[in-house]
Amino acid sequence: MKIVTIIGARPQFIKAAAVSRAIAEHNKLVNRESSVINELIVHTGQHYDRNMSDVFFEEMHIPKPNYFLDIHSLSHGAMTGQMLEKIEEVLMDEKPDVVLVYGDTNTTLAGALAASKLNIPVTHVEAGLRSFNRRMPEEINRVLTDHVSTILFCPTKQAVENLKNEGIVNKSSSVHKFVSSSAQELTDLQAHELPRSVALVGDVMLDAAQFYRRYAKRTKFDLPEKYILATIHRAENTDDPERLISIFKAFEKISQEIPIILPLHPRTAKIIHSLGFCLKPQTSNLKLSDPVSYLEMVYLLERCKLVMTDSGGLQKEAFFFKKPCVTLRDETEWVELVDHGFNVIVGVDNKRIFEAFELMTVKDIDYNINLYGDGEAGEKIVNILKKHLSLLHQ
Ligand code: UD1
Repeated sequence: MKIVTIIGARPQFIKAAAVSRAIAEHNKLVNRESSVINELIVHTGQHYDRNMSDVFFEEMHIPKPNYFLDIHSLSHGAMTGQMLEKIEEVLMDEKPDVVLVYGDTNTTLAGALAASKLNIPVTHVEAGLRSFNRRMPEEINRVLTDHVSTILFCPTKQAVENLKNEGIVNKSSSVHKFVSSSAQELTDLQAHELPRSVALVGDVMLDAAQFYRRYAKRTKFDLPEKYILATIHRAENTDDPERLISIFKAFEKISQEIPIILPLHPRTAKIIHSLGFCLKPQTSNLKLSDPVSYLEMVYLLERCKLVMTDSGGLQKEAFFFKKPCVTLRDETEWVELVDHGFNVIVGVDNKRIFEAFELMTVKDIDYNINLYGDGEAGEKIVNILKKHLSLLHQ
């Protein structure tokens, strides 16, 4: 059985690490050659700096990519288009049984389109998430990917609901279990056609957090005793100087009370530089750093007081590590965190950011609730895929 995994951006390396590990575990246990899952990895190159890419493969022991497409730093259309063309070539050569894509990046959409146009079933990990903000490129990527996917792995109940509301889950699709159609019905389907299936498996990022926290790695820079961990990289924040300046004004003010550690995404670093921001990293309590690795991030998360971010993944990681979160966006896909009071959505108004900081640093929060599964999403994904693939080979 052959799977082609298509990844290219930092959060996808973390998610793929959890599933690749589950595939490796599965392969250790099988005794027939025909049951072995052969995973090939295509890295589109969307993220290419060492500290945005290679370090994740090394420290999380993700198998080395079989293909590196080297496509990056282009407009959305050009990037997605070039990826589509190159991924199609790979898929035509490799003829996999299924293609695996993750999340909501341009890499996700290109992989899903290339596979679906070749009638190769697309499996989407982290399906069903919605911000309902179509101005975000990620929202377009998610919606389109879900609509062309055959097997949709949802991390939350809300994600399943969102798919129902869009008609992606309907009478002929199975939810929560892996197939609704009988083998007889399947024979009527064309080769490479599977019944659409939606499964609530939990979040693969929880698998990663639980597995890798024991390997947390001390950061190269000195840490204050108490600090806030912050990240900013969303285009909606970085590409609008007013929004970015407002966020940094809030950070300057908050950092007078408690230091802020801010590992900078290259996009943010470039823009800060071009705006000529007057930041004094050595003396200020706003401590900027290069992007950190996943194991360093885990180290920072375990020790921080609060998380402030516009990242999707970090909002959940804050919860996994029992830290309150202030989200610097106007909406979130992870609504259950807000509903339960673990996260507040404040946008970019610096007064609101400061108020949220004051509120969330003193709030007493009980984290004893299961929102994202049991940390075994990777294993569930592999089991479901195995059953689907065996149907194809009947
Ligand atoms: C992408 C995803 C976003 C995800 C994020 C994680 C899309 C539309 N967005 O956004 O969903 O949350 O990744 O980080 O796919 N750059 C470097 N070095 C790198 C990587 C990027 O300098 O290693 C530069 C690029 O050249 C570009 C900018 O950073 O100028 C933005 O990169 P891009 O891949 O366009 O999107 P992200 O902001 O990273």
